[in-house]
Amino acid sequence: MTVKCFSVSDLKAKARRNMPRMVFDALDGAAGNETASRRNMVAFEAVCLQSRVLVNVENRSLKTQFLGEEWQVPFGVAPMGMGNLFWPGADQALARAARDRGFPLGVSTMSSTSLEKLLEQSGGNAWFQLYAGESDTLTQSLVSRAAQTGYRTLILTADVPALAPRRRDQRNGFTVPFRLRPRQFIDLCLHPRWSLKTLIRGIPRPRNILDQGGSRPSASSEAGFRREAGRGRFDWEFLSELRSQWPHQLVLKGVMSPEDAKMAVKAGADAVYVSNHGGRQLDSAPAAINVLPKVRKALGPDFPLIFDSGVRSGEDIARALASGANFVMVGRPALYALGAGGSSGFDALLELLIKELSTVMAQLGCRHAHELNEKVRVL
Ligand SMILES: Cc1cc2nc3c(=O)[nH]c(=O)nc-3n(C[C@H](O)[C@H](O)[C@H](O)COP(=O)(O)O)c2cc1C
Repeated sequence: MTVKCFSVSDLKAKARRNMPRMVFDALDGAAGNETASRRNMVAFEAVCLQSRVLVNVENRSLKTQFLGEEWQVPFGVAPMGMGNLFWPGADQALARAARDRGFPLGVSTMSSTSLEKLLEQSGGNAWFQLYAGESDTLTQSLVSRAAQTGYRTLILTADVPALAPRRRDQRNGFTVPFRLRPRQFIDLCLHPRWSLKTLIRGIPRPRNILDQGGSRPSASSEAGFRREAGRGRFDWEFLSELRSQWPHQLVLKGVMSPEDAKMAVKAGADAVYVSNHGGRQLDSAPAAINVLPKVRKALGPDFPLIFDSGVRSGEDIARALASGANFVMVGRPALYALGAGGSSGFDALLELLIKELSTVMAQLGCRHAHELNEKVRVL
């Protein structure tokens, strides 16, 4: 089945129809009044780029060197927990696409497929994202598992010192782990395709937490990580310790200030990841795209910089690269695409982003993706 789409909004509208309401809301929703989430997207529209004419741009390449590897495109998929809850088989579909199309997949601590399987299925094109939780033993063991499995990039997410309440989830009675009450039951009955597929594949669980130390789920290890648990005790000391334990690329995600970006460099991070979690944490956060040039300025021209939050088109990817990012991650659109039509939906998204980005590069006089970062002027 091919999925027809002309924009990410088309995929989002299809996903909204296919998914149970509470599941779509858990994906689409954000913190508080959802102003930061909206602000991210509105701010993108205000970023204007300087076009150039009469440059030979007949042959254009999106290939990008980043964190020691060559990727086919200058973007990847941001780490998103419990992927299979949003669409049955989402984790595997994303991992296979990462392998076949040569982009990095962010694998969340809270992924619904084990970090080992996802690295294998992605053909090595995966970065592991760490949430440090209540249990130090669990955190240590996630880091060792990631290293032993062969991950070369570890992303520490630092912008969830406390989990922000999401009103849509509260209103829908949506919780992780999932609890079925009459209201949720009706929602599921109204979306039989999602519900039957999910039933056949088994209710998604946070596999990395359950699989701790073996294949048999253990209740005590699940208790070692509560999604809503406070993580406020982690500080810069923790990042320095992590630096001394992790021998490969280390990235700090959730940076929204030039000061924190400089601290990350001081603590030994190999890359800084500007993100406001798609507006899912601090509703009064500025648009991430507006913070990006300030962080770039603080870091200087050469320090590796990743960006996400509010990217909804190939043109937005170009805007983020021109605003200082070396690499861009796409969040919700990946899951909208899967919700719209499984793997075919995701293929449609990739084609769309690649076509849009390549066309914009032509208007901007760029033959190579890195030129977006190096020579395009933001007006
Ligand atoms: C459903 C969902 C789950 C997420 N889970 C995680 C996670 O487990 N770890 C993490 O670092 N960020 C997580 N994020 C945040 C994303 O990595 C990313 O920062 C955000 O989605 C980017 O904004 P965008 O959705 O507007 O592109 C999640 C986002 C969504 C939408």
